[in-house]
Amino acid sequence: MRIPELIERLTHLVGDDGLVLDAEGQAAYVRDWLGKWQGSTAVVARPRNAAQVSAVMQLCHQTRTPVVPQGGNTGMSGGATPDGSGAQVILSLNRMKRIREVDPVNNTLCADAGVLLAEVQEAARAAGRFFPLSLGAEGSCTIGGNLATNAGGTAVLRYGNARDLALGLEVVLPDGRIWNGLRGLRKDNTGYDLTSLFIGSEGTLGIITGAVLKLYPAAAGRATAWGGAATLPALVQLLTRLQAACGERLTAFEMMSASCLELVLAHVSGASSPLAGRHPYYVLFELTDTEPSGLSALMEQAAGAALAEGLLQDCAIAMNEAQARAMWRLREGISQAQVRAGKAVKHDIALPVSRLAAFVEEAGAALAAEFPALPVVNFGHIGDGNLHYNVLLPPDVAAPEYARLTAALNRRVHDLVAQLDGSISAEHGVGQLRRDELRRYKSPVEMDLMWMIKRALDPNHLMNPGKLL
Ligand code: FAD
Ligand code: MLT
Ligand code: ZN
Repeated sequence: MRIPELIERLTHLVGDDGLVLDAEGQAAYVRDWLGKWQGSTAVVARPRNAAQVSAVMQLCHQTRTPVVPQGGNTGMSGGATPDGSGAQVILSLNRMKRIREVDPVNNTLCADAGVLLAEVQEAARAAGRFFPLSLGAEGSCTIGGNLATNAGGTAVLRYGNARDLALGLEVVLPDGRIWNGLRGLRKDNTGYDLTSLFIGSEGTLGIITGAVLKLYPAAAGRATAWGGAATLPALVQLLTRLQAACGERLTAFEMMSASCLELVLAHVSGASSPLAGRHPYYVLFELTDTEPSGLSALMEQAAGAALAEGLLQDCAIAMNEAQARAMWRLREGISQAQVRAGKAVKHDIALPVSRLAAFVEEAGAALAAEFPALPVVNFGHIGDGNLHYNVLLPPDVAAPEYARLTAALNRRVHDLVAQLDGSISAEHGVGQLRRDELRRYKSPVEMDLMWMIKRALDPNHLMNPGKLL
């Protein structure tokens, strides 16, 4: 179908105000947050509800029009950016913003896919409950995008990732049919786990339009600390000690290297280090509980033991909410600081926690030998075995050299990850960034299984082509 006719038919389905047709309005949709990918589209369609999504998908199915689903467009793997052909329609969920139901007795919340993560958290809070998914982009990313990427963030250690926090989904299939799987059940063994299948599928199997999410009791107290350590093995040992001493009260254990903190201090206004000295590694760790009494004492005891044992060289415990927030600002400023510092080759890897230190030692030595001029910015959710092992490039690096270095660095880092039984994609998704890498590291059997599912659900290959597979 010709583009003007497609636009005319889409106008009937979602209204004039449901389409973005001008280049200026489309600018925020065709470029990703990192500024790494730039695509183009003839039209951004913004349906208001699942019925409208279904109508748009039926039209795209009939006309064989490829579709790129998009939530908050904060993804880090280029998954929500269309290609440069202009032939792909962007289907944005950003007008689907209804909290459909909060059930405090069942501890569930049902939301449209376009509700921002921060809005889900707020709705849970208003009901005296807690929705634990938490990440730096929570004010801009959508719950649909979180589920489509199986997002992680800073509370996975205690509560799991997005997949662990969803009980049911509503999905519009590539042919426009609506699957209503919005069940708020913690037990449901009625066959294949379709909810889990769509979670993490990065818009390649269907459009998530709604979700039933798990809620938890609201935490009544938290204790936050910032420690400096000499080595990564010391931090891994500290993690084990804290888990033994504090159990599930340990909700966050976030690491950053010295060079990473320096980057934040240089690029984030108002940032200052909680500790006087410089340490090779830093950790932000937090305890939370529904019963606040005793939490501060537990933190003081745990931090004191870590200092006495030499696992930490220094430690600051937040004395109030403002100090805790300042510590979190350092952690959450890392992504922005990296963008301001220039180009980076980003690795989002997962390893068994027991092998993190071996990876960092071996990768550090290999990169120092082969790329001595390139600084490594290493940080991440080490309680989950997830490192963002990024390598900074000179700000003026030319495109061919950027591509050459990306390929060479990926090979060193990802080969080592594979040797240590890790994953080359922990929480940001595969998108277009790691699509070729995925083929290299997944077994032919696993790739074949994924393709069989893809062909069965999307035989015309219209859902987010060029991403993931
Ligand atoms: P988008 O970027 O719009 O889309 C991401 C992918 O999901 C695309 O493939 C898209 O096609 C697909 N998609 C989106 N919505 C739907 C839908 N409704 N149905 C089907 N497919 C859909 N990620 C983490 O995991 N942990 C972090 O700690 C973290 N920190 C971040 C910090 C910052 C400052 C930024 C900018 C990003 C961070 N991210 C993090 C990455 C990003 O926020 C997550 O991947 C988030 O889940 C993406 O949500 P989104 O709504 O922006 O999705
Ligand atoms: C984070 O943990 O801050 C993120 O996943 C974002 C990033 O890697 O930049
Ligand atoms: Zn992360």
